[in-house]
Amino acid sequence: MSWLRPRVWMNFYRFFSNQYSMETKIPKYVKIVEVGPRDGLQNEKELVSTEVKVEFINRLSQTGLPVIEATSFVSPKWVPQMADHKEVMEQISRHPSVKYPVLVPNLKGFQSAITAGAEEVAIFGAASESFSRKNINCSIEESLDRFEEVMDAAKQANIPVRGYVSCVVGCPYEGQVSPSAVTKVAKRMCDMGCYEISLGDTIGVGTPSAVQRMIFAVMNEIPVDKLAVHFHNTYGQALVNILAALQLGISVVDSSVAGLGGCPYAKGASGNVPTEDVVYMLDGMGIETGVDLGRLINAADFICKAIGRRSLSNVGQAKGHL
Ligand code: HMG
Ligand code: MG
Repeated sequence: MSWLRPRVWMNFYRFFSNQYSMETKIPKYVKIVEVGPRDGLQNEKELVSTEVKVEFINRLSQTGLPVIEATSFVSPKWVPQMADHKEVMEQISRHPSVKYPVLVPNLKGFQSAITAGAEEVAIFGAASESFSRKNINCSIEESLDRFEEVMDAAKQANIPVRGYVSCVVGCPYEGQVSPSAVTKVAKRMCDMGCYEISLGDTIGVGTPSAVQRMIFAVMNEIPVDKLAVHFHNTYGQALVNILAALQLGISVVDSSVAGLGGCPYAKGASGNVPTEDVVYMLDGMGIETGVDLGRLINAADFICKAIGRRSLSNVGQAKGHL
């Protein structure tokens, strides 16, 4: 019985003590996963040139970020903006201490990614049946079968695989999503061999208590050091939700410079939490990230100018940028 397990009790204590105290498990170091070149650009209607994408990634590579999600090997008919995935992977200048994972939805995407030189991939599923069908044209169960195939091939090629679960709090088509639905998919991905599971609030509807309830449920099945959070900022809740996640011991945060981003198959979804705002908050809390805020803002300026967008980062704006 699950309630007899020590991790369940430990998490139970952690959850309730967090309601009343800042004396928590807040980590000393947070790994930031920059998703700007992928999540940030995939929703742009006008095609961004390969040259701009490559320069964007090269500038991000000089900021101290440990991980930059570079592109996705999805169908160009579904996401035309990512059609130059091969050229992007071939043309970027890789910094030795940066990882450049790419999204793959199936074995075909995995094989193309590896051929183009990807050394790490991410599979992406959902806790909501309707979103799974809209986004990758199959049921959750079918998607997990496809991911098993990717995982088998990745194990053979010694390629680390990250797993995303979308719609962890709400779904654009089904409304509220239960923590148990999230836990089920996250656990399957973890059991098949994902080294990290990123919990995505795809449409940014979460608030801290709902987010903590969801993470708490997932933590009963997956150790917290294997979990990451991925918040879109549609309702302006992303930063506070990150803080709520840190209080439960999460130490990996996805974000996108200038707050770019959104999923083309999630109606109403807006950008990711801006990386500049995350770094500013963590710097202020004395939490190490290794990221240079000034260089980050310069990389954000570059991409905002190139695609003609205003930065959605409060920190970027406060410092007088775009
Ligand atoms: P499908 O149409 O069901 O696929 O799409 P299919 O297997 O029937 O194949 C149809 C055609 O696509 C064929 O070509 C295949 O070869 C081709 P045709 O014969 O018609 O010329 N194809 C591919 N081409 C290139 N790369 C591939 C690939 N696979 C098949 N990998 C499929 C299924 C999964 C491919 C499609 O639905 C798809 O590409 N979806 C991707 C949608 C997407 O990228 N969404 C955004 C990323 S997820 C996200 O943003 C959320 C996240 O940020 C977390 C969060 O915020 O919650 C991660
Ligand atoms: Mg996303």
